[in-house]
Amino acid sequence: MAMTLFPLLLLLTVASLAGAESGGDVSGQIRLSCGASASATDEDGRAWDGDATSTFAPSVAGVAAAASYQDPSLPSTVPYMTARVFNSSYTYSFPVRLGRVFLRLYFYPSAYADDALFGVTAGGVTLLRDFNATQTALALGYAYVVREFSLNVSSETTTLNVTFSPSLSPRRGSHHAFVNGIEIVPTPDMFTTPVPTFANGGRPDLAPIRADTAYQTMYRLNVGGEGITPSHDAGGFYRNWDNDAPYIAGAAFGVTFEKDNNVSIQYNPPSVPRNAAPEGVYATARSMGPNAQINLNYNLTWIFPVDAGFYYLLRFHFCEIQYPITKVNQRSFFIYINNQTAQSQMDVIVWSGGIGRAVYTDYLVVTTGSGEMDMWVALHPDLSSRPEYYDAILNGLEVFKLQKYGIHSLAGPNPTIPPKRVVSMVDGSRSESRKKSSVVCATVGGVAAGCLFAVLVVCVLTWTIRRRLQKAGPLKPADGLLVPTKSSDLFGPVHN
Ligand SMILES: *[C@@H]1O[C@H](CO)[C@@H](O)[C@H](O)[C@H]1NC(C)=O
Ligand SMILES: *[C@@H]1O[C@H](CO)[C@@H](O)[C@H](O)[C@H]1NC(C)=O
Ligand SMILES: *[C@@H]1O[C@H](CO)[C@@H](O)[C@H](O)[C@H]1NC(C)=O
Ligand SMILES: *[C@@H]1O[C@H](CO)[C@@H](O)[C@H](O)[C@H]1NC(C)=O
Ligand SMILES: *[C@@H]1O[C@H](CO)[C@@H](O)[C@H](O)[C@H]1NC(C)=O
Ligand SMILES: *[C@@H]1O[C@H](CO)[C@@H](O)[C@H](O)[C@H]1NC(C)=O
Ligand SMILES: *[C@@H]1O[C@H](CO)[C@@H](O)[C@H](O)[C@H]1NC(C)=O
Repeated sequence: MAMTLFPLLLLLTVASLAGAESGGDVSGQIRLSCGASASATDEDGRAWDGDATSTFAPSVAGVAAAASYQDPSLPSTVPYMTARVFNSSYTYSFPVRLGRVFLRLYFYPSAYADDALFGVTAGGVTLLRDFNATQTALALGYAYVVREFSLNVSSETTTLNVTFSPSLSPRRGSHHAFVNGIEIVPTPDMFTTPVPTFANGGRPDLAPIRADTAYQTMYRLNVGGEGITPSHDAGGFYRNWDNDAPYIAGAAFGVTFEKDNNVSIQYNPPSVPRNAAPEGVYATARSMGPNAQINLNYNLTWIFPVDAGFYYLLRFHFCEIQYPITKVNQRSFFIYINNQTAQSQMDVIVWSGGIGRAVYTDYLVVTTGSGEMDMWVALHPDLSSRPEYYDAILNGLEVFKLQKYGIHSLAGPNPTIPPKRVVSMVDGSRSESRKKSSVVCATVGGVAAGCLFAVLVVCVLTWTIRRRLQKAGPLKPADGLLVPTKSSDLFGPVHN
C-alpha cells in the first residue's frame, strides 16, 4: 500500500545536486575573535575580526588576554588563543537581519578563567547563568567549550545584544567574565516547519514551539560516521557533527556502514532541504547488526546527559543507503525515548520514498525536575508488520534544548565533573575513549542524581508528520501522539 502513497516523484540529477552544494548564503555572518586586535582566519577558513578593532565592538571594554598554553586538541588558534575579560557587565551589539541566527560562543579556559563565573544573555534570553567554563570543559572532557544557540531576532529590533555579566562573588564584588569568540550565522527557520498541528480533535494543545523559541544545541551526531567539521557542513552554517560512539550505552554498539557506491544521497526540498544535514551524515549509518536473534535481545541505546526541567527537540536523520533495502517493510523498528515508545513501525523507506533518500523526523520530549539527567534514545526491531529483517538504522541525531518561556532561559547548572577521572586542563582531547569514559561516568552520576527527582515526568510527542505524507494520504497508525492521560506521572498513547 505504501508504494502507492509515496510515488517516487523526485528525479533530481546528480548535476543539480552538486550545483546546490557549493557556496550557500554566507552573507550576514559575523565573527569576533575577542581580545584580538587584528583579523585572522581559522583552520576552517572562517575570517574573524579582532574585537579591539572591529566596527561591531567600538570602545570595547574589558581587557584583552592571551591563553598561556595551546592545547593540541584546539581545532584552531583563532579564536581560542585570545580572550576578552570583563570585570563588569558588557554588551556587544550586532546588527543582524530579521529571523533566525546561530549564535556560537567559544570558550577556552586558561589562566584568565581562574575566577570566571558569569551569565550571558542574548536577545532577551538567558543563555548561560553562573557559567563556569573551566568546570564545564572538565566535565565534558574537552579543553574548550563551544555553546551554540539558535535565536530568532524579532521584528522590533534588528540588533542582537549579547551581554556578559560577571556573577556576584560573596567574597569581593564580583567574579569576572570572559569569551574567546562570538560567531553569528543567519539561517532559515530550521525548527518550526513543518508546522505541528495539535489543537484539534480534542487533543490538548501541548505544542510549546513558538516561532521565536530559542534553542541550545546539546548534541549533533553523525551516527555511524566520522565527525564532520564546520567547513564541511551543509548550507554554509558551520555546524559541527560529532561521531556518536561515545554516547552508546553498554557493550552492544551495533555495526556502522557506508552507503553503497552506486547509491547517491537525494534530498527532497522543501520538507527535507539540502541544508538539513550534509551528505556525509546520510551516507553513513549504524544498524543493530546482521544477526536477527541478537538484535531481538538488545536495544541499540545512546545516553545523553541533559538538563532536567526543559523541553527537548530530538531530530533523527534517516537514509537507507545499502542494498538490498529498497522496499517497504524490509526494516521496521521502534524508537524509544526515555523508555517510552516515540515511534513504532519506523520504516525509513516509507518515510523517505526509497534508497538514498534523506528524511528526518522530530520528537518533542518534556522533562521535569532540575539538575542533570540522562536522556535515553533506543532502537529495537518492530515485528508487528513482519518485516524482512529484524534490524534498525540511524544516520544522524540532533538534540536541542528549548528555552523556558516564563523566565526566558536556556541556562542549566554547570555539569558535574565525573568522579574518579584524572584529568588536567592541559590534557583535554577529543578522543573517543576519553569522551566515552566521561559519558559513562556521567551516567553513573546521573543515575544517582535521578534519585533526587522524586517525580520525573516524561512525555514524548511526535509531530513531524511530513508535508508529503500529509498530502499523500492518511497518517500511518504509527504517527501516534503521546499525551498526558491525567495529572499522574505517566503518559499513555492517545489515538485519533
Ligand atoms: C575593571 O577593569 C578596569 C580595566 O578594564 C579597571 O580600570 C577597573 O579598576 C576594574 N574594576 C574593578 C572593580 O576591578
Ligand atoms: C570553576 O570550577 C572549577 C572546577 O570545578 C573550580 O575549581 C573553580 O573554583 C570554579 N570557579 C568558580 C569561580 O567558582
Ligand atoms: C542593546 O544595547 C544597547 C546598549 O548597550 C541599547 O542601547 C539597545 O537598546 C539594546 N538593544 C536591544 C534590542 O536590546
Ligand atoms: C521569528 O519569530 C516571528 C514571531 O515572533 C515569526 O513570525 C517568524 O516566522 C520567525 N522567524 C523564523 C525564521 O523563525
Ligand atoms: C549496487 O551495488 C550493490 C553492491 O555494492 C549491489 O548489490 C546492487 O545490486 C547494486 N544496485 C544497482 C541498482 O546497481
Ligand atoms: C530506562 O530504563 C532503564 C532500565 O530499566 C533504566 O535504568 C533507566 O534509568 C531508564 N531511563 C530513563 C531515562 O528513564
Ligand atoms: C528496550 O527498551 C524498551 C523501552 O525502554 C523496553 O521496554 C524493552 O524491554 C527493551 N528491550 C530490551 C531487549 O532491552
